[in-house]
Amino acid sequence: MDSRLATAARVGDIAPFHVMEVQTAARALEAAGRSVVHMEIGEPDFPTPAPVLAAAQRAIARGDIYYTSALGLPELRAAIARHYADHYGVAVAPERVIVTAGSSAALLLVMALLVDRGDRILLSDPGYPCNRHFVRVLEGEPAGVPVGAETNYQLSADLIDAHWTPATRGVLIASPSNPTGTTVPAEEMRRIAATVARRGGRLIVDEIYLGLSYDLGPTGRPRSVLAIAADAADDLFVVSSFSKFFNMTGWRLGWLIAPERHVRDLEKLAQNLYISPATVSQRAALACFTPETLAVLEERRRAFEARRDFLVPALRELGFVIPVMPSGGFFVYADSSRFSSDSERFCRDVLEGAGVAITPGIDFGTHRAAAHVRFAYTIEMSKLEDGVARLARYLGR
Ligand SMILES: Cc1ncc(COP(=O)(O)O)c(C=O)c1O
Repeated sequence: MDSRLATAARVGDIAPFHVMEVQTAARALEAAGRSVVHMEIGEPDFPTPAPVLAAAQRAIARGDIYYTSALGLPELRAAIARHYADHYGVAVAPERVIVTAGSSAALLLVMALLVDRGDRILLSDPGYPCNRHFVRVLEGEPAGVPVGAETNYQLSADLIDAHWTPATRGVLIASPSNPTGTTVPAEEMRRIAATVARRGGRLIVDEIYLGLSYDLGPTGRPRSVLAIAADAADDLFVVSSFSKFFNMTGWRLGWLIAPERHVRDLEKLAQNLYISPATVSQRAALACFTPETLAVLEERRRAFEARRDFLVPALRELGFVIPVMPSGGFFVYADSSRFSSDSERFCRDVLEGAGVAITPGIDFGTHRAAAHVRFAYTIEMSKLEDGVARLARYLGR
């Protein structure tokens, strides 16, 4: 082929999202008249809260559609900082908060800031697939570290130490995680922060699912890494989003809390990569932190918790192995090897045979991927019950 018509080598290393393929197959079945229970979808089923919609409508009516600062509206940066004080009991300077086009853009900004050609970033395998692609697009090396039940399906300080090489630049952890829903225990997170600092690397923590944490104990509040590893807080990068807890996936709005000395460079990157986050979305998001909206979101958090409390024991009863109870988000990562040694095939068969859509482990890495599937509880309880009943019939349980 004419080499001028070829695409860059990096494109060949970007894997498609298999979950999208599951979704396409599920939709095709539905178009043919079959009913499908969707347990593959990675976004909340709840609508954006009414006060947030109303704030967006007001912004549109005013014609408030012009670019904002690349760092985001100052009042939204201040509101996010206040949310950390009110909700997580941790002081964050508004100057450290950068509003982004979804947490996806926050992750891309951090990687663009830190990763040079050949630099390694340690990630958990299984983990959120886009992370390794962000690193690859920047010519870095995403280093997937196999994790299992013994470390809550998360990186640990010991694993980080064992996998550190001279080319390692940093560590990215999502807690709670996609696909496992598990959280790094506070004591381990402190050890991780200390280990990464001792190694001279950077710690990035993706807290997109933190608002959707369960089993909260007496305080009733989840703990941000900024509070847990308070000594290291000024040097941490924390990524979060309006997508999941605030039910705003399609609005494409998230944020990054960065060390203050890097904000100017991140601003330059944001200016050049996408100019600014969406203005109407930012105006809408200002209504996220009112008591009215937060009350609705708390109710929904409890609904997710009730779904988890139904689904995990029900799946265990069917024969799926789930060694660690997920403590956040809306995913269950289950060992399906009792039913099949090929989870991709198993997902296809379950969709065809039971009319239940689930995601194969291959979407999240390579470590024991063929032995795992991901269930999402982003559907209402009656549908979850239907899904479990269908699986029980199909698996002969
Ligand atoms: C762990 C994790 N991080 C980041 C994202 C990106 O979300 P968004 O760009 O909508 O904030 C997702 C989306 O599923 C996710 O699961």
